[in-house]
Amino acid sequence: MRTQVGIVGAGPAGLLLSHLLALRGIDSLVVEDRSRAYCEARQRAGLLEDGTVKLLREVDLAQRLDAEGLEHGGIYLQFAGERHHLDFRDLTGGRTVTIYAQTEIVKDLIARRLADGGALEFEISGTAVAGLTTDRPVLSYTTAGGERREVVCDAIAGCDGFHGICRPSIPPGLLTVRDRDYPYAWLGITAEVPPSTDELIYNRHPDGFALHTMRTPQVSRLYLQVPPDDRIEAWPDERIWGALQRRFALPGWELKEGPIFDKAITPMRSFVSSPMRYGRLFLAGDAAHIVPPTGAKGLNLAVADVRVLAAALAERCSTGSDERLRAYSATALRRIWKAQRFSWWMTSMLHQFPENNVYQRRLQLAELDYVTSSRAASTALAENYVGLPFE
Ligand code: FAD
Ligand code: DHB
Repeated sequence: MRTQVGIVGAGPAGLLLSHLLALRGIDSLVVEDRSRAYCEARQRAGLLEDGTVKLLREVDLAQRLDAEGLEHGGIYLQFAGERHHLDFRDLTGGRTVTIYAQTEIVKDLIARRLADGGALEFEISGTAVAGLTTDRPVLSYTTAGGERREVVCDAIAGCDGFHGICRPSIPPGLLTVRDRDYPYAWLGITAEVPPSTDELIYNRHPDGFALHTMRTPQVSRLYLQVPPDDRIEAWPDERIWGALQRRFALPGWELKEGPIFDKAITPMRSFVSSPMRYGRLFLAGDAAHIVPPTGAKGLNLAVADVRVLAAALAERCSTGSDERLRAYSATALRRIWKAQRFSWWMTSMLHQFPENNVYQRRLQLAELDYVTSSRAASTALAENYVGLPFE
């Protein structure tokens, strides 16, 4: 079997790459080891940068996003018993962000690829990549029906997330990893209750960070900083609402509660592996880098990577020139490192670090006071949050 680009992983990166390539007349095959239902239901990110929304519009993927997405023109930062608003429209010349869940983007992408006749295989196993330094790399896997396939490609895109097989297929010693762990995790819940706020609330509290976000006008999503080794069984619903009520408490404001229908604990890490290329294998999205979720950059970075990669692969297919493919890793990494910095900064400013002494906690509060009182500082937060311009 043969395809131009073999794509491992049907997350946002792999699916969008396949669509962007199809628009340029390049065929691809996407293989995914989970089921379609699992990929469409996996609760993850929810906030799209302004450039992500514009890109999805340009490639005709925004019908439902435009109908159902919730446009937000700012956020609240809460600390020291007060809630402050940052107005992104004012600070960035009219730019905004949009709440539209990753589950919905994945559904839209899968539906579109299938409607366009795209090759997409779910519930495969035994994924392997070989011949990466030849000009005919091979993607092999076993189909859901048990048939072993070998697909000869011009290039392979490793869009298989942090735990995928593509990054580990690169021989040891060729990749440089820069990473950082955080001494806490996030407990995330989705609840059947209208959001208690018009815009997201990022909250620094002595008990730990909390975030109030949303999915729809009827569904709220909330996060709590918890110890890194905490287990979800230790958090019955009443304990979660109790912790959220304490952290968000503000005179005259009420946090509405409702039935929780999804809850999970996610570890936090910063991770960058470079270069994002080995021969004819190109890594994109979480396969190459992870950010802590504060600031919502993970999904947006995956989109930015495949935007660059699709253009580079298209140039190679149409002109035979490798120039943009050779620049892919360096181009993507410039944005990735800026998003790493922003995510690390937001995380550091808003979370309780067990090792911090009173001096360091006072510095965090001074930073928040500065960000909410200086137009220069709030502009710096706002332009990173809505998303830096594409290269
Ligand atoms: P993924 O979405 O991970 O997709 C990779 C795909 O590859 C998966 O479908 C996987 O099943 C598949 N795969 C893996 N191995 C193989 C294999 N061997 N063969 C075939 N297929 C394979 N970001 C935010 O901005 N905000 C958040 O609130 C947020 N919450 C998150 C919560 C969790 C639990 C996680 C894990 C991530 C979260 N993120 C969040 C990050 C964001 O969801 C990711 O950055 C985004 O999903 C990256 O997309 P991707 O396509 O690169 O990777
Ligand atoms: C969401 C998650 C984030 O990490 C964030 O910073 C903003 C929004 C969300 O799930 O909606």
